[in-house]
Amino acid sequence: MNISIVSPNSKTEVQDAYKFVKNILKFSEDHPRSLDFYINIFQKDPRYVVIAKDGNEVIGAVLSSDENEDTLLIGELAVNEKYRKLGIGTSLIQQLEKNAVKLNKKEISLGAQGPAENFYIRLGYTPRLFIQLSGNNRLDEIKKHISDNIVWENTGDGFSKVIVETNGVDKELQKNISEKLNAHTQYLFSKQIIL
Ligand SMILES: CC(C)(COP(=O)(O)OP(=O)(O)OC[C@H]1O[C@@H](n2cnc3c(N)ncnc32)[C@H](O)[C@@H]1OP(=O)(O)O)[C@@H](O)C(=O)NCCC(=O)NCCS
Repeated sequence: MNISIVSPNSKTEVQDAYKFVKNILKFSEDHPRSLDFYINIFQKDPRYVVIAKDGNEVIGAVLSSDENEDTLLIGELAVNEKYRKLGIGTSLIQQLEKNAVKLNKKEISLGAQGPAENFYIRLGYTPRLFIQLSGNNRLDEIKKHISDNIVWENTGDGFSKVIVETNGVDKELQKNISEKLNAHTQYLFSKQIIL
């Protein structure tokens, strides 16, 4: 094994990284970030993308973009199954965190898929539970079940959404809310990178 952690040098490398994560994460039809989106970002600054290679083969990648001026959003992260549990995912995130500092970001955020939740906790990311109901003006229904620790709420775009501060990743709470409200739920993670 000859593993290197690098940012792409060319559009082709961005394309290889995108294809790689797309294959592993099995993007849905309505995946919000396209290859062209990341090529634009790469042209702005290659440090938004970090790739793990074994020789010339892509074996891991993380792709990010601006959530806002201060916050970097991790869009996709994946490591080839044969290379997992070797610390490569950790190296990709640590390199992206260094890049984020250079890009003048103060925070990194992401929405995690279930199996990766522990991975982000171990790397020092704080979870918050995102709850979404279809339909406007349904915030009260959510608040009947969970009224404390709501840190953000929004309705009006066809959905009613809240973000709740939780005590770690509480799978029981998530299951309860999802089932009782028939809601879409996901843990969002964030980490301050400048003290
Ligand atoms: C999530 C993912 C990127 C992690 O990549 P990885 O390279 O396996 O990550 P690491 O090796 O750094 O850490 C993974 C685990 O291996 C363990 N580990 C790391 N180095 C190790 C070593 N040398 N020996 C044994 N275990 C090790 C870590 O403790 C970690 O445990 P945890 O996840 O239970 O906390 C990878 O599992 C993946 O691609 N999953 C599918 C796609 C996905 O879920 N992406 C995230 C979407 S949000």
